[in-house]
Amino acid sequence: MDGNIWELYGINSNPFTTDPLLIKGGILRIECFVGRDKELLELNRKFHSSGNSRILIIGDVGVGKTSFVNYARFNAIKEGYFTPIPEIAVLHDWDALQFVMNTLYSIYITIKNFDNYVGIISKGQYKKLESLFEINSKSGYSLGLDIAGFGGSYSQSRVAPTFVLYKTIVDLTKEIINEIYNKKQKELIIHYNNLERIDSNDLVRLFGDLRDFFQTPHVHFIFVGNLMTNNAIQGISQVSSIFSEPIILRNMSYDEVKEVIDIRLNKLKIEGVKQIKPFNDSALKMLFGLYNGNIRHILNSLDKAVTSSVRNIPIVLDDNDVARILSNQIEETYLKNIKPRARDVLLKIVESEEITNKGISNALKMPRPQVSIYLSDLKNSGCIVLRRQDGKDKFWTSAPHFKWLLLKKPQLSKDLNQKLLSTAKGFVDLV
Ligand SMILES: Nc1ncnc2c1ncn2[C@@H]1O[C@H](COP(=O)(O)OP(=O)(O)O)[C@@H](O)[C@H]1O
Ligand SMILES: [Mg+2]
Repeated sequence: MDGNIWELYGINSNPFTTDPLLIKGGILRIECFVGRDKELLELNRKFHSSGNSRILIIGDVGVGKTSFVNYARFNAIKEGYFTPIPEIAVLHDWDALQFVMNTLYSIYITIKNFDNYVGIISKGQYKKLESLFEINSKSGYSLGLDIAGFGGSYSQSRVAPTFVLYKTIVDLTKEIINEIYNKKQKELIIHYNNLERIDSNDLVRLFGDLRDFFQTPHVHFIFVGNLMTNNAIQGISQVSSIFSEPIILRNMSYDEVKEVIDIRLNKLKIEGVKQIKPFNDSALKMLFGLYNGNIRHILNSLDKAVTSSVRNIPIVLDDNDVARILSNQIEETYLKNIKPRARDVLLKIVESEEITNKGISNALKMPRPQVSIYLSDLKNSGCIVLRRQDGKDKFWTSAPHFKWLLLKKPQLSKDLNQKLLSTAKGFVDLV
């Protein structure tokens, strides 16, 4: 592909990136945040109403959970709250000790790296953290720190977490939290991300072990996950009793999605150059409908549609163009290599929001063991994912980009080709 196609549109860089908005840094500033007024108010009320809390934020992949919590924390910082800047990505094999260690590390790294926090804890305590976490100290490694910046876990050298060690680390963490609270006179807000990636049984075990830690005074613990995370937590009564009702994030409205993109285009505008929007409203409406407003999937689709078609001139894609480009793309790159019967199974899943082995077997008149084999192949090649499990029933859904197959409208290709021909010379090798 050509160097920078965005320049053609008067845009500085890719406006469709799907990284979450970060409190500090990131290509897109946190000020690009849109909407969620009601949920922000709800979260804010929780921050103000009690001395400590456990708050679960749930929603589907890509609705905007991480950005939401980051934005809420960004506002809280302005109000004088302390929050470890990087969100803590909880890993599936963590035990209670690793969980607390990573919490303490995120506090340490925030104090260390951000100028505002010099002197927020005493020199003595800071020295303790330094000796615990810095490279020339062995303890950080042996405790299996997984947080970004340490480059993965050092499981070979991990020591068996003893109760004494756990208690020492928890006590230190509580002391540090207390000092910060005394200084700021506001609670700490700690953001744990990606709980949906943890198997329910592991989560139940981990949260059972952490129940006492979660009641540390002066902390608002925020956990980000999905419906399955909530089910797992509801399953352990001693834990669910210390949680409030989850805050549920739903897909955005059409106007919000449009605003998200318009703000991005505005922020990424190349000064003094006329800006052209790479797609029109009909294209956005179509993708909005396809994904029920899921912002991440919409952005990814626009990205693919533009980057795989545009070469030298700034074309404005409409719904027909996008439909053709994306359905071709998925046919050419993914479907070609799939066996015909596996393909039938995949298409059935694409058509459904979610479907079980039995549902597929009935619809395709295919024996269930045969469906199982295809399901396993399709899962291993990343075409489908397990959406949820209810007892023994597994509900499957397709990976988001396979939904492009539903856009297929073969008769439309002529329009786009004409558009391309009428505007360009020496171009037009579409997809
Ligand atoms: N309220 C919002 N305003 C602006 N952009 C958003 C908003 N919510 C999500 N986004 C954008 O959508 C994408 C997906 O958001 P993310 O927070 O990563 O979702 P999740 O954590 O639910 O998977 C990111 O690129 C993010 O910048
Ligand atoms: Mg996220």
